[in-house]
Amino acid sequence: MTTRAVVTGVGHYLPDRVVENAEFEATLDTSDAWIRSRSGIERRHFAAEGQTTSDLATRAARAALTDAGLEPDDIDAIIVATSTADLTFPSVATMVQAELRMMHGFAFDVQAVCAGFIYALSTANSMIISGQAKRILVIGAETFSRIMDWTDRGTCVLFGDGAGALILEPQEGEGTGADRGILATDLNSDGRYRDILYVDGGVSTQNTGFLRMQGKEVFRHAVEKLASTATTALAKAGLNSDQIDWVVPHQANIRIIAGTAKKLGLSMDRVVVTVQDHGNTSAASIPLALSVGKARGQIKPGDLVVTEAIGGGLAWGAVVLRW
Ligand code: ACO
Repeated sequence: MTTRAVVTGVGHYLPDRVVENAEFEATLDTSDAWIRSRSGIERRHFAAEGQTTSDLATRAARAALTDAGLEPDDIDAIIVATSTADLTFPSVATMVQAELRMMHGFAFDVQAVCAGFIYALSTANSMIISGQAKRILVIGAETFSRIMDWTDRGTCVLFGDGAGALILEPQEGEGTGADRGILATDLNSDGRYRDILYVDGGVSTQNTGFLRMQGKEVFRHAVEKLASTATTALAKAGLNSDQIDWVVPHQANIRIIAGTAKKLGLSMDRVVVTVQDHGNTSAASIPLALSVGKARGQIKPGDLVVTEAIGGGLAWGAVVLRW
C-alpha cells in the first residue's frame, strides 16, 4: 500500500470588481484588441480598497471546506502560496487560521511567485506522506494589483487578483498510476534569471516596489520549461501525455498555454483555460482553474490532471494527480 494525498475539496473566490480590457484604453496607449491577441486576457478581477490577500484566501478556504463537507477543526495545517502577503509578518496562513477560528495545528506561507501553488502542493504532499499532517488546506491567493505600475502597459494589463483552495487528505493506494491523489511532483528553479521577472522593492530595500518583467524573455523560457517539467513529472508517475485527461496550466498567457499543450502533443480541448476571465493571478491561478474546471463539469473524479507553472526566480514545476 502507498499513501497518497487526495483532493477532497476545492473552492475559489474572486473579488467583485471586474475590469474589462477597454478600461485601460482611457489611461494607457493600449487596446482591447492588443491585449486579447497578445495574451488572451479579456478581463480580470481587482480587490476592493482595503481588501487584502488573507481576506481572499479565507473566502476560498471556506468554499473548499464547504465542498469537502468539513469544518475548520477537521484541518491540521494550512499552507498559503503567495507573493503579496498582507504584512511582512505574520504569514497569510496564520491570518486565515485565525479567521477560520482554528485553534490547533500549524500554518505557514510558501513564496515561489507564479509557481507557488505547485511548490505548496508538493510540500503538502510530502507532509501527508510522512504523516506530519492529515488534512491540509492548500491555498493560492494574490493581490497583484497592489504591485502594478499603472504606467507600464507591458505588465499592468496582464495581472489580476483572486484565490483558490484545495483540501488534501491521505488515502491508501496501490502504488500505481491508477491511484487517486498526487502521483508525482517536479520542482525547479534557476536564480540566474532574477532580472527578467521581479519586484523592484521589498522589506530590506525599504519600499514595496512594482513588478518588472521582460515579457519576451519570460515567454521564451516558459513554453520549453513547462513542457519539460510536465513530461518529467509524468515520467516519475510512470505515465505519458496520451493518458492526460486535463492539463491545468498556470494562466499567464493563452499563447504560452497553447504552445505548451502543442509540445505535449495535446489538443486545446484537454486544457482548462480561465485566463480570459481572470488574467494572471500568479499563485492563485492553478487552484482557481481547478475549481472553475470542476464547476464547469470538465474535471471529474478519476481524471488524470497535470498542473504546471513558471514564475519569478525563475521557479517552475509540475504536479501530476488523479482527481
Ligand atoms: N498595449 C499595446 N502595446 C503594447 C502593450 C500593451 N498593453 N504592451 C506592450 N506593447 C508593445 C510593446 O511596447 C512593443 O512595442 P514596440 O515594438 O514599439 O517596442 C510591442 O507591443 C510588442 O511588444 P512585445 O513585448 O514584443 O509583445 P509580445 O508579443 O512579446 O507580448 C507579452 C508581450 C504579452 C508580455 C508577452 O511577451 C508575454 O506574455 N510574456 C510572458 C509574460 C508572462 O507570462 N509572465 C508571467 C509569467 S510569470 C508570472 O506569472 C509572475
